[in-house]
Amino acid sequence: MEKLAHFDREVIPERRMHAKGWGAYGKLTITHDISQYTKAKALQPDAVTDCFVRFSTVAGERGAADAERDIRGVAMKFYTPDGNWDLVGNNTPTFFIRDVHNFPDLNRAVKRDPYTGMRSAQNNWDFWTLLPECFHQITVVMSDRGIPDGFRHMHLFGEHTYSFYNEKNERVWCKFHFKTQQGIKNLTNEEAAEKNAMDRESAGRDLFEAIKRGDYPKWTMYVQIMTEDQAKHHYENPFDITKIWRHKKYPLIEVGEMELNRWPENYFAEVEQAAFTPAHVVPGIGFSPDKFLQGRLFVYGDAQRYRLGVNYNQIPVNQAKGVKGGVADYHRDGAMRTDGNYGGAPAYSPNSAGVWSAQPDVMEPPLDIDGAMWRYDPEDDPTNDDFRAGGDLWRVMTEDKKEMLIHNTAADIAPVTENIKYRHAVHCYKADPEYGERATKAMGLDMNKVLELAKLTNKELNKATTPKA
Ligand code: HEM
Repeated sequence: MEKLAHFDREVIPERRMHAKGWGAYGKLTITHDISQYTKAKALQPDAVTDCFVRFSTVAGERGAADAERDIRGVAMKFYTPDGNWDLVGNNTPTFFIRDVHNFPDLNRAVKRDPYTGMRSAQNNWDFWTLLPECFHQITVVMSDRGIPDGFRHMHLFGEHTYSFYNEKNERVWCKFHFKTQQGIKNLTNEEAAEKNAMDRESAGRDLFEAIKRGDYPKWTMYVQIMTEDQAKHHYENPFDITKIWRHKKYPLIEVGEMELNRWPENYFAEVEQAAFTPAHVVPGIGFSPDKFLQGRLFVYGDAQRYRLGVNYNQIPVNQAKGVKGGVADYHRDGAMRTDGNYGGAPAYSPNSAGVWSAQPDVMEPPLDIDGAMWRYDPEDDPTNDDFRAGGDLWRVMTEDKKEMLIHNTAADIAPVTENIKYRHAVHCYKADPEYGERATKAMGLDMNKVLELAKLTNKELNKATTPKA
């Protein structure tokens, strides 16, 4: 009975998205001096910090195949002397949407349909094309980079704008980039279909085998820096996660190297129960007024309290192992509290025993904000251009990459109704006329109609391509 009762309860909820994943331990070594920007101990010259990194696909469930057209998640946990710094990013420099309020819908659109229980290209493309800010990310996902050949062969990005502050409490805005030293390698649709038919764990196996043979994967870490003054005069919202910062203006600054060199001893204990959150920052690293990031600061801990329980930070892989003497986090009690629960120490703060005191020295510098607090409407923002980044990307692609993007787009959107195809063709055209013409042709649409629709605003286009109920 004991055995059966335990067996009945062995499966825990999977992550709401990024359910299928693989993790490994390693280290971050700092090779360059960025102390003028940040006082984070883990980012000072010659610092070496242990880390745990989990890679994932996004839309597929825990049993899904690895080689799917999808973005890849990368969640990094650095066990720094000041506590854990989690950088929870993806393999793309931008994201689909910029408003946290759209996030559940994005996932409902790319995951299973409530009626059929099946994945639906129609839902996927309908949602994506109704929000034109998705356009750059769609271009990336439909490009040759849409199916990476394993996790070792892709770049990693923090995507959001974060902040750094130095010993003098001076703040700059920053973005994180990690470039693969293994070189970029991708799969075509046909190669991926063959891989998935033979091995659903192809990306996890590739990582496992590389680490086991001592061929440790490495990424070079860079940051882009924008001063507060530059941000005030930037040509578009620098905190919009759907936009990139042009490298010419904000060059990549080399910081160090991340290496993965140890496979975990137990998948459930260390990978399935790993819990990452962008809210885990350390002194020297902070957030930004990116409202998408602000939403994420709440949601990860909330998801983990449900998925793993309220004491998820006591699970060994999640403990702040880099802090000498351990962490005093002030939490008490709760399900599965298995340590000493701080014994008889006071449970309130402030107290006269001098414990749990506030630490003003770890506070971020204050941020001056002005303007109205309101729901941001990109339609009212004259600096907003949802097609600029996608058009820029198209224009730097070589001919074979352009051809592959058009081919993949036409194949992916093939089962979708014509009204949605027109919406996407117009977006391609607005990004670059050549992109639009080639996509229109590949989708078998009428170019004259695309040109007519391209005269409309986004709101009018959405209306014109939405059948009346
Ligand atoms: C506001 C929008 C977002 C929301 C509400 C959200 C929510 C979530 C939730 C609930 C999970 C599961 C957490 C868990 O159970 O441990 C998750 C996982 C993840 N998210 Fe997000 N997410 C958002 C945007 C993003 C963005 C923009 C990125 C990349 C920059 C990202 C990267 C990831 C990754 C890598 C994981 C997997 C973490 C792991 O390996 O355990 N998410 N997200």
